[in-house]
Amino acid sequence: MPLSPWSPDIFAVAWDFATLAHEGQTYGSHQPGERITYLNHLGSVAMEVMWALTLTPDEFDGNLAVQCAILHDVIEDTDSTYADLAAQFGEAVANGVQALTKDETLPTKTAQMQDSLQRIQQQPREVWLVKLGDRITNLAEPPYYWKLEKKHAYRAEAQMIYQALHPAHRALAQRLQHKIQAYEQYF
Ligand code: NI
Repeated sequence: MPLSPWSPDIFAVAWDFATLAHEGQTYGSHQPGERITYLNHLGSVAMEVMWALTLTPDEFDGNLAVQCAILHDVIEDTDSTYADLAAQFGEAVANGVQALTKDETLPTKTAQMQDSLQRIQQQPREVWLVKLGDRITNLAEPPYYWKLEKKHAYRAEAQMIYQALHPAHRALAQRLQHKIQAYEQYF
């Protein structure tokens, strides 16, 4: 099956969509009082995925992977819907982003993660790459206000992600495992 690297034009359309959708959103950094624009997270996840794609250029549909990376939080965190994504980017992208979206009607964070991981496993491997890249990015130094208990839970959740999705990409999974180990420095 001939697969492609990503198209810069396809990247740009998704980036514009995410920029508007996440407009005004920020998250806390490890520095007290500092807020970071949400786009920083999206760019970091896209970068992790693109790094993985360059290592294995013939194994993935780069456009699907990059679009899902850039758009991975729009259903969960913005007013955009599955239908919006399907109309603009097609069903494969919308299905990928839907699988990457937590079902917040489930009672616990663990249940939400297990459910999302099961849905990701039913998606093409490109979607798995996004979840691996997302957690690699999120294992950077945590916000200064996170308590020890939350950091422990977050690392345990990362281990669940690794267990479920590591077959998708050897190097990306290894990178996640290193970040999980290194996270102890923040305890
Ligand atoms: Ni994310």
